[in-house]
Amino acid sequence: MIRMLMMNKKYTHALTLGFLTPYYDFIVNFAGFGRTIYEKIAGYISPKAGDKILDVGIGTANLALIINRKYPKVNIIGIDPDENILKIARRKVQKEKLSIKLTQAVAQNLPFVDNSFDFVISSFVIHHIPKQFKRQAFLEMKRVLKRNGKVVIVDFGIPKNFVTNIILSLFSLIEDVGPNKKGLIPRLLKEVGFSDVEEIGSKFGLISFYRAIKI
Ligand SMILES: C[S@@+](CC[C@H](N)C(=O)[O-])C[C@H]1O[C@@H](n2cnc3c(N)ncnc32)[C@H](O)[C@@H]1O
Repeated sequence: MIRMLMMNKKYTHALTLGFLTPYYDFIVNFAGFGRTIYEKIAGYISPKAGDKILDVGIGTANLALIINRKYPKVNIIGIDPDENILKIARRKVQKEKLSIKLTQAVAQNLPFVDNSFDFVISSFVIHHIPKQFKRQAFLEMKRVLKRNGKVVIVDFGIPKNFVTNIILSLFSLIEDVGPNKKGLIPRLLKEVGFSDVEEIGSKFGLISFYRAIKI
């Protein structure tokens, strides 16, 4: 029965348990997964004025806000399936009077036409997408990107040493980081046809930054 429910699930909440969502920003900042990581991601893209950026699994909009402050002339759209986390994102976006658009949707079924974005970005989302939808989510990211568009994905990756291997093994008891740990992200990027797939950075030996191009 529990397995059936898991199979039908289209997404996992930001901190796995939905009731923790209001405390998401506090917890991630406390754990050290905050600003510096998002600034690093913002530094890996170099959008021009008017470029369209899709943030897949935007959560509380931390990454999108930093990108919008750094590149005020871009158009950012964020999707997330969880209406409760989108409410937090909406409040933050309105407070800063930014024009980031927020839409409720899942990564495996993006409500956008083909070839419509210059960049697709996603932070700490892949390990939250249920197993049976992960490949489809990568196909969707590729579909909505324009030719020569770039995808930047940041999430737990292949551990860099013995200690981070242990940490990720323990973490995989709580969240589904096992496939990431075995190299799922670069493998799926290649499998769905992205070109120039590379790991362009890492943090704490735990978090990997991947970039690829749609040709
Ligand atoms: C750990 S949070 C990361 C949020 C944000 N990207 C950040 O860096 O703070 C994971 C997010 O992925 C979203 N998510 C889970 N499953 C998803 C899916 N199938 N499609 C899109 N987003 C999903 C969750 O709702 C949550 O907001």
